[in-house]
Amino acid sequence: MKTLHSTLRRLARLAFISTLATGLSTGTAFADNDNDKDDHKYGSLNKRWVQDLREGKIKLEGDHAAVETLILARNIPIPYTYIATLMRTPNAFGQGPACIVCHSSTDPRTSYRGMDLSTCKGIKTGVTEEPGYPVFIPGQPAGKSILGRRLRNNRMPLGVSFNVSPDNAAYTAVKEWIAAGAKNDDNFKRHVLPLFKKDGAFVPDTPACTTCHMSNQEPPSFHELDLSTHAGIMLGADSVAKGVANATKVVVPGKPYESSIFQHLVEDRMPPGISPTEDRSHPNTMILLRWIEQGALCD
Ligand code: HEC
Ligand code: HEC
Repeated sequence: MKTLHSTLRRLARLAFISTLATGLSTGTAFADNDNDKDDHKYGSLNKRWVQDLREGKIKLEGDHAAVETLILARNIPIPYTYIATLMRTPNAFGQGPACIVCHSSTDPRTSYRGMDLSTCKGIKTGVTEEPGYPVFIPGQPAGKSILGRRLRNNRMPLGVSFNVSPDNAAYTAVKEWIAAGAKNDDNFKRHVLPLFKKDGAFVPDTPACTTCHMSNQEPPSFHELDLSTHAGIMLGADSVAKGVANATKVVVPGKPYESSIFQHLVEDRMPPGISPTEDRSHPNTMILLRWIEQGALCD
């Protein structure tokens, strides 16, 4: 058990470092942080680029500098042909098979969730297996959409294998607690909180959530998330970095499927089996999300 813990801590640290390395691209890069009027003034992307270089406005730092400074910061329209290529290319978002191998048509008998990622219409239609729903809204922030989450969020506890079915009593207890209003009541204290503090509570041979989320200080607590008390859980993540009022809520009382604490328990990162150490802000992920935010245009 001890060795597993330290391996996971190591994994987690790696994942954390890669988050740091791509730092700014995680939250803010979704917004066009440029002034479009300025682009107009310079007449061309290239003239603006040269001018910005001259004025020292451009920092070519980090592995993703080209994508960040030449594409995302300029909000260049992403063509669907690039998205089509990503969907059919192995390792496009980190080591793993191409999306279209498993999501190839709207027939749920041969394509997982009846999702067809091989056409633009299919990508926009999303899941067709009952009840069916889109996996993002064109033109809206995409990081927390179903598709964005599946590409960026590691299932918890970090390192858990994808082939674990999320339907035992522990998952149900969390789901029902949130559905009933996420109160600090007797049921929570006796049946829910202990799950976050106990090794193997959701999946055998995995560390307790509080191994990595034990206070609102990072380090050592990942994302400044404290899962050891009701107050900590309700406060959410990054309350020091962003301030208490802007902390990322992980529970939406009454709505388990909209609560990121539950999403992180049950949603596998795609493609299945991808290592949690793979960059969550992979340049291709950021390009895909930008394409959605630009309206998911098919031509
Ligand atoms: C090896 C097969 C496989 C590959 C490759 C794969 N998926 Fe999946 N995908 C699945 C399975 C199985 C599920 C359903 C189980 C689950 O929800 O985790 C799923 C579910 C999903 C869902 C959630 C749909 C829902 O029900 O809400 C999305 C979104 C998704 N995949 C996107 C992708 C993307 C994007 C890629 C490429 C990076 C990809 N998948 C690659 C097997 C695969
Ligand atoms: C081995 C360390 C580790 C363990 C154990 C762990 N986590 Fe995490 N957790 C992380 C890391 C690293 C992240 C950063 C995001 C990612 O990798 O997807 C994270 C992110 C999260 C987030 C997202 C926070 C945000 O910023 O929105 C939630 C929610 C979460 N974990 C819940 C849990 C729960 C519930 C458990 C127990 C079932 C758990 N974690 C166990 C390391 C861990």
